[in-house]
Amino acid sequence: MERSLVLLKPDCVQRRLVGNIISRFEEKAINIIAMKLIQVTPELAKQHYAEHVEKPFYPGLEEFITGAPVVAMVVEGLEVIRVVRDMLGATNGLKAAAGTIRGDYSSSRQMNLVHASDGPEASQREINLYFSPSEICPYSPTLTPWFKAGDE
Ligand code: CMP
Repeated sequence: MERSLVLLKPDCVQRRLVGNIISRFEEKAINIIAMKLIQVTPELAKQHYAEHVEKPFYPGLEEFITGAPVVAMVVEGLEVIRVVRDMLGATNGLKAAAGTIRGDYSSSRQMNLVHASDGPEASQREINLYFSPSEICPYSPTLTPWFKAGDE
């Protein structure tokens, strides 16, 4: 089992796409084990996007990510880091394949609706940034036997 930090970004919240995106994760049998609506501060943005702070696009990215609330989630599942990234599609909504979340709903490089951790180290770091251990509620869905075979 893997975990990933997923953020439904300010454009997702403002465009009323939160329910739709959560439904896509639920339909894929991805388990949401933590979730909250929060306002990202400039300090948190700098920590989250530490690798981008020196890049020319960072000021715009910080203004965007702090411009309205986000929905932060921890999701859990088999290979969930890659599976969620595949569901999101390419960073730039104009280049993301049709059928992916960004391909279907985004036409922007910056306003690409959803963030998801890009690997196990980022996942651990980002989950710790957004959630305390007591906010994470792992559980086994009773439908699990209908989502996958016992040996998967
Ligand atoms: P995300 O997956 O959250 O990771 C970093 C974010 O920076 C990315 O999604 C985009 O929202 C944004 N981003 C990445 N590259 C650019 C760029 N060249 N110009 C503007 N924003 C970018």
